[in-house]
Amino acid sequence: MGHDLIVGGTGMLKQVSVWLASQGRKVTIIGRNQEKFKKIQNSAANPENLYFLNVDYYDINPFTDHLIKTIKKHGPFDRAVVWMRSSAKESLQKLVDILSSTTEHQWSLFHVLGSSASRPLSNRQPECPVNVDYHQVILGFEIQNNGESRWLTHDEISNGVIHAMKNKDRTSIIGQVEPWSMRPEY
Ligand SMILES: NC(=O)c1ccc[n+]([C@@H]2O[C@H](COP(=O)([O-])OP(=O)(O)OC[C@H]3O[C@@H](n4cnc5c(N)ncnc54)[C@H](OP(=O)(O)O)[C@@H]3O)[C@@H](O)[C@H]2O)c1
Repeated sequence: MGHDLIVGGTGMLKQVSVWLASQGRKVTIIGRNQEKFKKIQNSAANPENLYFLNVDYYDINPFTDHLIKTIKKHGPFDRAVVWMRSSAKESLQKLVDILSSTTEHQWSLFHVLGSSASRPLSNRQPECPVNVDYHQVILGFEIQNNGESRWLTHDEISNGVIHAMKNKDRTSIIGQVEPWSMRPEY
């Protein structure tokens, strides 16, 4: 039975968590809010496959301890979907290093990034040991028929990530990032 890790799987990637659980794989979701996790469990076809790691990824020591304990208990991860703030760079690198050093096999990382990652100097790929199969999914925006642009919906984001995972796309953009001047205001 494979084991997936998802960071941010109780927010806009909720449908990705539900889809992963339906694949008959173990799914560990990292977050700080147990109530959000319970809602996902309630809507999942296989709730027994879902585990919650209640930790703040900015707290590096508890974050790494929890990851290592989970791996000891439920086995190494062979895939991870990661949506983390850019300011959590050190935690992301720890995650990559721990997942790599705890498996003898290749594992896949689907790194979800905001639109700014499409700009040449803003990309935030972690350093990947040789057993990481790295994939990048960039969130874009949509230009509507009336010419106005909008950010993606949660469903569009989750569906785009699932599509990238099914196709094993090396790099994908959900929606569009050009023309850059058309990106919506926050
Ligand atoms: N197009 C773009 O470029 C773009 C880029 C960024 C955002 N957005 C939009 O902006 C909206 C808000 O983004 P958001 O980041 O709030 O996304 P979100 O996915 O709705 O929520 C953040 C997720 O990450 C978890 N999380 C956040 N901080 C954490 C921490 N310190 N430790 C552990 N888990 C943590 C949250 O769980 P807990 O609450 O349980 O901790 C939750 O699952 C999204 O709905 C998206 O549509 C668009």
